[in-house]
Amino acid sequence: MKLKMKASALSQLARRTGPPPISWLMQLALSRPKLISLAAGFTDNESLPVEEIRETLAEILRTRKTGQPALQYGSTQGDPVLRKLTAKYFQRLDGGTGSSRAYSPERMIITNGSQQLLYMTTEALCDPGDIVLVEDPTYFVYLGILQSRGATVRGVRMENDGLDLVHLEKILESLKKSGELRRLKALYLVSYFQNPTGITTSFAKKIAALKLLKNYERAAGHPIYLLEDAAYRELRFGGEDVKSALAAKEYSNRVIYAGTYSKPFATGTRVGFGWLPEPVFTAVLRIKGNHDFGTSNLLQQLLARALASGRYQRHLGELQMRYANKARTMRAALREHFPNQVQWQEPEGGLYFWARLPRNVKSGMKSKLFQAALAKDVFYVPGLLCYAEDSTRRKPDNEMRISFGSASDENIREGIRRLGAVLKKFV
Ligand SMILES: Cc1ncc(COP(=O)(O)O)c(C=O)c1O
Repeated sequence: MKLKMKASALSQLARRTGPPPISWLMQLALSRPKLISLAAGFTDNESLPVEEIRETLAEILRTRKTGQPALQYGSTQGDPVLRKLTAKYFQRLDGGTGSSRAYSPERMIITNGSQQLLYMTTEALCDPGDIVLVEDPTYFVYLGILQSRGATVRGVRMENDGLDLVHLEKILESLKKSGELRRLKALYLVSYFQNPTGITTSFAKKIAALKLLKNYERAAGHPIYLLEDAAYRELRFGGEDVKSALAAKEYSNRVIYAGTYSKPFATGTRVGFGWLPEPVFTAVLRIKGNHDFGTSNLLQQLLARALASGRYQRHLGELQMRYANKARTMRAALREHFPNQVQWQEPEGGLYFWARLPRNVKSGMKSKLFQAALAKDVFYVPGLLCYAEDSTRRKPDNEMRISFGSASDENIREGIRRLGAVLKKFV
């Protein structure tokens, strides 16, 4: 006898979780080799450090004494040498020296990419119905995490140097009035060369945002955290580095910092790291114990050696120059081929340009423009994907994220030429 199943065995979380657009975009790029992808956040293929990694792995595996520990399980928190080197490196980037609790290796967790840290932190902070504030627009993969957790999302408008603080305060005030502040857990910022807009948040704005959040904690009845996602921080090729929120001393116990070695070194290694204040640190460490009880030990030791030997720093210097050139190539192509009515912002680092089309030109995945671009074998990330479901505004549908990360110089020029030709038909 056949059993008819009425109810699904899937959990509520599984049923809430939509298909991640990132997987579709990556698959599209991989399955159509002729397609010029100005979409996915893949990094520059040509400069991936094959020789550096070969040499470093050979060093690790040269003797049984160094090889065996690397081929064994490690700890849940992560390799102590890698934590120590990372802590020192980032404290120095923030202009600090000496011992500082904010950058202590004891408060760090090494993760499988910073993506895992974002996921576990959200798991540790949010129950369904809890609220997270994000930049409007923001990193669309993080929006997927929030949707999957059943979190409510509110978008904070952006200015050229990051968050619109007036809008942030307005949202906090309205949450207080409606009694929803109790559910507000965090503000998520992609603070360096933001994915998708390329905007960097000034240090002054980070401090001002932390101060504002603190002012509303009494009404919330619990801490409200700043989750700083610094995935692109080291990919700077113009201007001065900006301090991280960890450097805002009096607020560092409200900062969760997510960093990564994917973008600045070898993307495929997916080693991320973060500093977390208590009690989030312990909660995330326990969650990681359940997820995988530790990031690959071999990959952590590889990064620790690359940092200690200076190979990492040398490679990063070359990478920054390479991305500076690729950004220049894209800028020149945009000037030559994009219609004047399209506005675009030029980043000082990272992998993305952000273009705004006239309001009546739709750029979403189902739009004629997107389909026409695909027919010409070129594609981009529709801006629409980067906006949260926020009932207080309509999602803009006239923007696009265009990446110079993975395409060759030739493909950047050709991709922008094709996209420009398509745009001219719609604008
Ligand atoms: C803003 C942002 N954060 C985090 C990540 C995750 O990177 P990884 O997990 O490789 O560290 C990405 C990847 O594209 C990103 O764009």
